[in-house]
Amino acid sequence: MRLYLDSARLSELEPLLGTGVFYGVTTNPLLLQEAGLGAAGLPGFARAVLQAGAKEVYLQAWGGSAEALYRCGLSLAGLDGRVVVKLPATWEGLGAAGRLVLEGVRVCITAAYLPHQALLASAVGADFVAPYLGRINDSGQDGYAAIGRMSESLRGIGSKTEILAASVRSVADVVALAQRGVCHITLPLQVAHRLFQEPLTLEAARQFEQAMEGASL
Ligand code: E4P
Repeated sequence: MRLYLDSARLSELEPLLGTGVFYGVTTNPLLLQEAGLGAAGLPGFARAVLQAGAKEVYLQAWGGSAEALYRCGLSLAGLDGRVVVKLPATWEGLGAAGRLVLEGVRVCITAAYLPHQALLASAVGADFVAPYLGRINDSGQDGYAAIGRMSESLRGIGSKTEILAASVRSVADVVALAQRGVCHITLPLQVAHRLFQEPLTLEAARQFEQAMEGASL
């Protein structure tokens, strides 16, 4: 199981990365914008989250054409060997992804909504495909079913491409995805925090601490 943090808010990422529970950080241009992070800030951001404990950082390429996405992806991958380049499941994104994979760049095909897009990601040799669970549901489809079919299809063809589920809205989503064999999931910060907030567990831990108050080995 690899859990990721879906944010570019460095000060909020650092304590969560310090738990050792989260494998990496995923971002997209909207998350960068929300965090007030421009392109010039990406090298420092990548260094900081890796230094804070992330083992991977996902940065999304931008540019109107396959060529521009490819060149942007090369620049992003050049920041650190632990950068995974995200590209949308579009004609241009997939075209750039195939070229980047041939250059040894690790790639995640993102903004996937339908099962066949997982097969396109596999066809270009992407390491990951990122279906947007919440947005799939928002569109009126069954996100769990769509992602379940993606997982089944990739396993059925023995693909190395793995699912990194995104647009997750609740802790229940995490469990439901894991039940469908999805073991890479990226979480918005508010969902990540909810993983640690089970009241009954907190009360039991408080009682344990109280019982040992003042004790020392
Ligand atoms: C991952 O980084 C995705 O880009 C992100 O989860 C998009 O989904 P959301 O905007 O619905 O959260």
